[in-house]
Amino acid sequence: MNFDYERDTRGFYQNDDTARRYHHMFMSPKGWRNLPSRLVARRERRAIETLLDQVPHRTALDLPAGTGKLAGIFAARGTRVVASDISASMLKLAEAEYARAGCIDVRFQVEDATDLARFREGSFDVAVCLRLMHRVPSGLRRRMLREFARIAPYTIVSYGIETGFHKKRRELRAAVFGGGRDPLCFCSVEQARVELSPDFEVLRQTWIAPALSQEMVFLLRSRRGRAGAFGAAGEPGSTP
Ligand SMILES: C[S@@+](CC[C@H](N)C(=O)[O-])C[C@H]1O[C@@H](n2cnc3c(N)ncnc32)[C@H](O)[C@@H]1O
Repeated sequence: MNFDYERDTRGFYQNDDTARRYHHMFMSPKGWRNLPSRLVARRERRAIETLLDQVPHRTALDLPAGTGKLAGIFAARGTRVVASDISASMLKLAEAEYARAGCIDVRFQVEDATDLARFREGSFDVAVCLRLMHRVPSGLRRRMLREFARIAPYTIVSYGIETGFHKKRRELRAAVFGGGRDPLCFCSVEQARVELSPDFEVLRQTWIAPALSQEMVFLLRSRRGRAGAFGAAGEPGSTP
C-alpha cells in the first residue's frame, strides 16, 4: 500500500490504542523488543538537549509532543511549554508524562502543524518538531516550516534522511521481518537543506543514531528573526 499522508500521518495516531503502543515502544523502561526504539529515544533526547542549550529560551512549542518524550528536558530547564499534537489520544498520555516529569508550566493544545494561526508571530523562543517530517510530503513540510519560522526565532526539527545504507537496511528488514519497503517521506541531506533555506539559516545538523535510525536533527534560525521580527532574541550559545 502506498503512503498516504491523511491516513498514515494525520489520522494514524488518532486513537488510544495506537497512542498506547507508541508510548510503550519509545517510553517503556522495560522489555527487550523495544530496546532499539528506547535507545533511539535516548539519543533523540540527548540531541535535543544539546541543541536546546545553544539557544536562548524560556518558552517552547513542543509539536508534535506525541506522548511527552521531551517532558523531562523542559522540566529540567524550567521552560514554559505549549505541548501540541493533532492527536488528542497522544496528548492525553503526554499530559501524564509531563506531570511525572514535574513540568508545571505546560499547556496542552490540539493543533495541526500546517496551520498555527492561533499563535501570534514570535509567540515562542523555540519550536521543537521531532519525528514528524519523515511522514509529511515536501509541499506540506514547507507549509509547516513557514509556520515555525513565523512563531519562533529558533526551530529544532528532525528529518528522515535517505542514504544508500539506510535504503539497503530497510529492504533487508522488510525481507527478514516483513512489513513495508515504503520509503515514507525521506529525502537527502541536500534536499532537506534546500527545503529549509527559504525560511531558515541552518546553524547545526546532527545524526541521531545513524546505524539505527534515519533521523537527522537541524537547529535553525528563522530568517524573519534576522529581520528583527523577534525583538531581543539572543544569539545561540548565550545564556537563556
Ligand atoms: C512519530 S510521532 C512523534 C511524536 C513525538 N514528537 C516523539 O518524538 O515521540 C508523530 C506525531 O505527529 C502527530 N501529527 C501527525 N500529523 C500532524 C499534524 N499535521 N500536526 C500536528 N501533529 C501531527 C501525530 O499525532 C503523532 O503524535
